[in-house]
Amino acid sequence: MQFKYLLSKEDIIDHITLKEYKYDILDVNILDINIKTLIIKPIINNSLYEMQPIVLESIDTIKYLMEKLWIAQSNNGYYIDEKNISLKNQVVFSKIIESVKYHCPSNLLDVGYANRSFYDFLKKNELNPKYIGVDILDFNYDDFETIQANANALPFDKNSFDLINMSLLLLNSIDPFSIINEAGKALKKNGMLLITDINSKYYKASGVYIKKLDEWEFIKVIETEDIFFTIKTLGRRKFFFHAFHEFNLYRKILESLNFLVLEDKEFGLTEEIIRPIYSKKIIKSFSRDLKYPSFHFLKSQKII
Ligand SMILES: C[S@@+](CC[C@H](N)C(=O)[O-])C[C@H]1O[C@@H](n2cnc3c(N)ncnc32)[C@H](O)[C@@H]1O
Repeated sequence: MQFKYLLSKEDIIDHITLKEYKYDILDVNILDINIKTLIIKPIINNSLYEMQPIVLESIDTIKYLMEKLWIAQSNNGYYIDEKNISLKNQVVFSKIIESVKYHCPSNLLDVGYANRSFYDFLKKNELNPKYIGVDILDFNYDDFETIQANANALPFDKNSFDLINMSLLLLNSIDPFSIINEAGKALKKNGMLLITDINSKYYKASGVYIKKLDEWEFIKVIETEDIFFTIKTLGRRKFFFHAFHEFNLYRKILESLNFLVLEDKEFGLTEEIIRPIYSKKIIKSFSRDLKYPSFHFLKSQKII
């Protein structure tokens, strides 16, 4: 499968709907890697703003940077906002828990298990399949089996698992095909693959962000027919690469790999969910986030 991204200055400028702006192209150095970067400065009410930087690189460089920078970023400390985590867990894991209850897998592989929150959520729901967590980083917990591995090269025999979970994992990869393909090998026949990721509509609605205070708000959407690739930046020196893919693309990949899609749903935060957790002022600032459901869930079954 060929992926096409728009990464030239001209392509990006063509996508910008702003009436008035200036731009610079800079070499930004992160972890000794020089990244050619486009910075667009919109002029709004006679003031010059800075938008988040947009990387102008080849897909190969971006693949390399995504892995390197993701690991460097994560090892610098996992930023955990307790409120956000509990809120996110409650919402993201709701669909997965429903499926685990329904299918009663004897074993479950969680790819990108990170801060163990899904494991703890299973326990809270009194669900006890044999749980194995894989992550490219080594978190190493004692109460379940953890394996440090890349999702695109899983160290398991074919036909090993009843259920594989990937929540908020594919957004860290530029190549979802190879990850879904690996999961397909590790799953048993009739095994279930659950993918929960950010809803692409939600990000598209968010559009192009403008720098606020000393943080870069986080997204630039570069769009093609059925994929879009985004680059997230947290602070000027901390790039954080994300590749958000259209769920149509996941569907196409799944169907090409002999999966049957059983469920395909958008879901997410509602005002009702956040009301007990956040103040009115914060909820108001969420309005853009509440325009579309923030997550998307795909349940599919390996049929061959
Ligand atoms: C955003 S966190 C999601 C954590 C958890 N699944 C959840 O839903 O809260 C993504 C996790 O995937 C891991 N990850 C990213 N790319 C990976 C890859 N290629 N192979 C394995 N793990 C990866 C990261 O290290 C990180 O722990």
